[in-house]
Amino acid sequence: MSIISMRGVSKRYDERLVVEDLDLDVEEGEAFVIVGASGSGKTTTLRMMNRLVEATAGTVEVLGQNISEASPSELRRRIGYVIQEVGLFPHYTVRQNVAVVPELLGWGSRRTDDRVDELLGLLDLPPDEFADRYPRELSGGQRQRVGVARALAADPPLLLLDEPFGALDPITREMVREQFAGISKSLGKTFVLITHDIFEAVELGDRVAVMNEGRVLQCAPPAEVVCTPSDGFVEAMLGRHRYQLRLMTTPIDAAIINGSGDEPAHGAGVVELDAGTNVWRALERLDEKRAQYIRVQRGEAARYIDRERLLEAAGKT
Ligand SMILES: Nc1ncnc2c1ncn2[C@@H]1O[C@H](COP(=O)(O)OP(=O)(O)OP(=O)(O)O)[C@@H](O)[C@H]1O
Ligand SMILES: [Mg+2]
Repeated sequence: MSIISMRGVSKRYDERLVVEDLDLDVEEGEAFVIVGASGSGKTTTLRMMNRLVEATAGTVEVLGQNISEASPSELRRRIGYVIQEVGLFPHYTVRQNVAVVPELLGWGSRRTDDRVDELLGLLDLPPDEFADRYPRELSGGQRQRVGVARALAADPPLLLLDEPFGALDPITREMVREQFAGISKSLGKTFVLITHDIFEAVELGDRVAVMNEGRVLQCAPPAEVVCTPSDGFVEAMLGRHRYQLRLMTTPIDAAIINGSGDEPAHGAGVVELDAGTNVWRALERLDEKRAQYIRVQRGEAARYIDRERLLEAAGKT
């Protein structure tokens, strides 16, 4: 079922068309990532999903309702939103920030407090330590996570996230992103996430929409975008990262079928991995563990593959 359906949607500011004749569907439970250069219309597209921006033309349906007929405030309570600059209230503590929507909804203080504690725990911000701090007393990564907790607070089925990891340094960014990937799968919600980082898009997206100059150039699962870019702009965006991105979108299972071998000699370094792990991650794990072989359980049988054969087999998939 489509959670979001946009048909022929355009946005014009004065004479400038910043989003042009957009058709887009987001399915229930998927992580849908919009990637594109600065100014390509990503934020405008996202904000047309919760009526923070009104479309100039076309129709937008969200959660089964044509949103031009919905009350904006009611709509936004059902849709979590993390804005590009986090946007925490500086004079509210972490607890008060996360509690904003539950309070609007009139949850009692007990239920609200329990929910805040639960979310802070989930996002690795122990309430004892963080709940009573103010945003200025947090690091950038911690603020971002409070922003995510706030968007999740009233348990909305749909979350819109505008570059939620944008302002972070590369190391923190990777950490927060990994955490997010971990929880997003288990939450069973629908996510629309904006980034201009193609790695982030490929790692987090079930589908990726590539935007440029107000248009969606390609919308497909990451492996398809990476292997068969449909447009010169998409190809240029992948650029010299193409090989790495291919390895990031190939599960080791695909390589194992082509190239696995026998059990290695006793004493050889082996890491056990899940068949769904991507080849790039598998290579990282081999490095971390200084191991030579990967072991994957397929049904009853264990399969082994070494680094060279993994790379060779991945190249053929
Ligand atoms: N309120 C506004 N009035 C006029 N022009 C606007 C307004 N908001 C956005 N724009 C223009 O619309 C275009 C798309 O903006 P948008 O914020 O959607 O881009 P974006 O893809 O999110 O970029 P970034 O990656 O920098 O956040 C830009 O050229 C921007 O200048
Ligand atoms: Mg933006």
